[in-house]
Amino acid sequence: MDRHIDWPTAALTQTLAPLLPGFGIEVLAQVDSTNSELMRRARAGNLAPTLLVAEQQTEGRGRLGRSWVSTADGGAASGLTFSLGLPLAPQAWSGLSLAVGLALAESLDPGNALGLRLKWPNDLLRLQRKLAGVLIETSACSGPNEAAAGGDLPASRFAVVGVGLNITAPQAPLGALRTPAAWLGELLPGCTAPAALARVAAPLAHALLAFERYGFAPWQARFAARDALLGQAVELADGSSGVACGVCARGLLQVRTASGVQAIESSEVSLRRSGVSSVSDASDSALAAAC
Ligand code: BTN
Repeated sequence: MDRHIDWPTAALTQTLAPLLPGFGIEVLAQVDSTNSELMRRARAGNLAPTLLVAEQQTEGRGRLGRSWVSTADGGAASGLTFSLGLPLAPQAWSGLSLAVGLALAESLDPGNALGLRLKWPNDLLRLQRKLAGVLIETSACSGPNEAAAGGDLPASRFAVVGVGLNITAPQAPLGALRTPAAWLGELLPGCTAPAALARVAAPLAHALLAFERYGFAPWQARFAARDALLGQAVELADGSSGVACGVCARGLLQVRTASGVQAIESSEVSLRRSGVSSVSDASDSALAAAC
């Protein structure tokens, strides 16, 4: 059996190198975690923009200390796991995971025909099932350029944007998945991990550069069009609950609680769907307007 996976490295280099000077792409048969590897490299001073793809991760990581489970399946790549690392200097970092999620959703589902939704702050869903997750980490940039930069410029950090996208049904151990899984193969039959990477990589790089320049505000309306939580009853980590009513121009989740509208930052709380209010699109908009 041919176990070789044909990744579009040359085509992606051609597309991404003009956008990201010094860009390189690397495919590893196995690594603990593409995020961990790029973070290690950044700490060792390697700040070149890099797209690192792993055919298998042995210690894939998710948000909030969770793991991202992937299985070896004879070379077909049952999931797409990669990280894009690059120096970024946005005015503010909040909303970055939402811009990344939008880049993924819009590149995989441009006309919204597949119904891909974004669950704040970082999950890509279809019909309440999780198709992909995003883990963003940053490390200080301590290269010579940083020393030279000064004045009022925002500080640059090396951002590692990790993406895990299910391609086939995950064979995860019982109980390993908190949310039922969706996979790309059921939405785009025949779509492989390399084909998915070819679709998402350039839009992701464009999104990161646009975010660096303009922040989250220009993405706000597009996020609203795919907001999986809009109008839903949610529970916050502190035990309080409310109704999600969109994200603000800074990418903070707005939750209408008994004590008023709270703006939630991703690091402060984890959200848990506590109930589903069946609201139509029209009442979604009304709710969002009311917040
Ligand atoms: C989440 O849903 O909590 C985020 C999952 C992110 C998984 C990806 S897979 C590639 C990259 N490397 C990792 O270890 N994690 C991210």
